[in-house]
Amino acid sequence: MIGHLFDLIPDALVLVDDARRILQSNAQADAMLGYPGGLAGASVDDLLPDDARKRHREHRASYAAAPRVRPMGAGFQPLLGCRRDGSVFPVEIALSPVDPSSQRRYLASVRDISGSIRERQRVARARHDRLVAHVGELALIARSEAEIVAGLPEKIAEALGIEAVLVLSSWPTMPGHPPARRVAAFPETIGSAATADLFDPILLSTTTTVFGDLAAETPPKLLRSGWSEGFRSAALVPLFEWNQTVGVIVALSARLHHFEHDAVHCLKSVANLLAAFLQRRQAEERLAHAQQLEAVGQLTGGVAHDFNNLLTVLSGNLQLIELQGSFAPPMAELLDSMRHAVDNGVALTAKLLTLSRRQSLSPRVIDPRNLLASLGAVLSRTLRENIRVGASCLPYAPAIFADGPQLESALLNLCFNARDAMPRGGRLTITACGIVLGAAAARLELEPGEYLQVSVQDTGVGMAPEVLARALEPFFTTKESGRGNGLGLSTVYGFVRQSGGQVRMSSRLGYGTCVDLYLPSAAADAGDGQQARLTVGPAPVAAGETLLVVEDDTAVLAVAVAFLESLGYVVRSAADADGALAWLKKEPAIALLFVDVALGPGLSGIELAALARRRRPDLCVLLTSGHDASVGTMDDAVLSKPYRRQDLADAIRRQFDGRAGARRHRR
Ligand SMILES: Nc1ncnc2c1ncn2[C@@H]1O[C@H](COP(=O)(O)OP(=O)(O)OP(=O)(O)O)[C@@H](O)[C@H]1O
Ligand SMILES: [Mg+2]
Repeated sequence: MIGHLFDLIPDALVLVDDARRILQSNAQADAMLGYPGGLAGASVDDLLPDDARKRHREHRASYAAAPRVRPMGAGFQPLLGCRRDGSVFPVEIALSPVDPSSQRRYLASVRDISGSIRERQRVARARHDRLVAHVGELALIARSEAEIVAGLPEKIAEALGIEAVLVLSSWPTMPGHPPARRVAAFPETIGSAATADLFDPILLSTTTTVFGDLAAETPPKLLRSGWSEGFRSAALVPLFEWNQTVGVIVALSARLHHFEHDAVHCLKSVANLLAAFLQRRQAEERLAHAQQLEAVGQLTGGVAHDFNNLLTVLSGNLQLIELQGSFAPPMAELLDSMRHAVDNGVALTAKLLTLSRRQSLSPRVIDPRNLLASLGAVLSRTLRENIRVGASCLPYAPAIFADGPQLESALLNLCFNARDAMPRGGRLTITACGIVLGAAAARLELEPGEYLQVSVQDTGVGMAPEVLARALEPFFTTKESGRGNGLGLSTVYGFVRQSGGQVRMSSRLGYGTCVDLYLPSAAADAGDGQQARLTVGPAPVAAGETLLVVEDDTAVLAVAVAFLESLGYVVRSAADADGALAWLKKEPAIALLFVDVALGPGLSGIELAALARRRRPDLCVLLTSGHDASVGTMDDAVLSKPYRRQDLADAIRRQFDGRAGARRHRR
């Protein structure tokens, strides 16, 4: 009778005794477990995978102590059955005592649930795929971070069937102190803990962490408060950029062990899309900023170039007036004040040329140890006592190839900014160390290779993000008028870029600022480190040589002619290349060609010099330029405008002496 009933029931049924022996089974059970000859006589242990046997025995012992009708296998970890061929499959079992007499027997109804689990997984995966596709689309079209994260936590929570999600992102604006930004809704107590907790190493880890049971493990503080809110399991998935964590997705579930493989995989995909979006936006912002600086630089450079011609005329005529003899007051004072104004103008145009990357640079090999030692000495003399200065060089700090005085002036600029940011005192730390940039070079818009990283860090007032974003712009200043003209950082940037390096700044309001300069190591730039600098010697005496001056700006030409005549030279002049070639043809006595690089229409000064030299190989050549962006490849000496009479005299004498030391070099 029972046997007949057994076979009528569609579920697999097994009757088991106290000793775990199978007394009877129906055809469904025999087929499901792979025993065509019937299960009777087998042990329950035969139907369990090896690693489940011990657990099952313990369960059974406790069940035998208090038998009742009970389902098994509906929890988070499905029970597993084992077929005769060894294959394993998920089951649900309903167990009930059959005979409460001394010979206890139990009836187990066993159901193969692999089909329904697969179905559940399929539905869950479809939800995950929809989420990933949605975030992927947003990452392509979103214009701002806010747009992409709006509603994202809710969507993640829905797709994963969980209760709370927090997306935190940070930018590495200060090493070790990333500001956290709460970008998503979250239970209040957890949200408020989140900002501080972003510094927890586990939240900054670059690997995903899953907490299956928050009560059993030691999660970070943020998740401990999650447990008291009723959450039982959690997953932390980092958003990272170049192996550095810039944020984290925190997912919390009220169920134990919620985050298995599929859910974690989905969270990782979302995190990667989000990180890729953040990276793209940063790259775009940097590019736009660099282009803006480039455009302003070009404009400024053009103005500075014209300005230099004006200053050459002003300062030249002043010097010529002074040559007339000594003047009595008030004329002497007027001249003095004019000279002062011209000097200021020269200093200003030099800055403008630096920021537009058109400054004449005289690079040489610089040992960072010497550089920092002399800088430290200058600073300890000039800074207030309440500012502690530390300048140190790490053992690995390669020599660089750069213009020494310009580099010192750039570093002083940074130090003065730091001083201004610490009105109540603080610490100024300058460090130099070597760094080899491989793939990371692209992010800094540099060539891969070895660099010296010089960092100037202060503990001052720091900058708000909107100030930081504009700090490199020429004429951007937050200082009161008269205290700063906003050219410090832009000249530093222009100089470092012209030297083949990069500037990166990080700052946090209330905490301080760090400016990093990356300068190519000398090894990467070996070669003409032996350039001599233009030096001013005693007034040279002309020996009556004939010179040809070519300059398209008539006022500048007049000054040059007057200077040269006052030095004792016989001077011929021309306003363009044709005029110059005509002079060279008819006057063999011309021993030196002094020519402006930019000559307006027709041949440039450089082309004229090359042509003239082909015709007259013994001819000396001295070039002059308001900025020497076009001079980098020339072999001839270049005198920067505006030049003093003395500078011109020295440069010409050097040419005649056959020395090529006056060449100003541009990188
Ligand atoms: N170390 C720093 N800490 C805080 N803010 C800074 C720091 N360095 C620069 N800044 C901000 O950036 C702005 C621009 O700096 P920059 O050096 O270009 O010009 P400036 O110092 O204002 O004037 P200048 O350097 O021409 O005298 C400053 O006005 C200041 O707001
Ligand atoms: Mg400054």
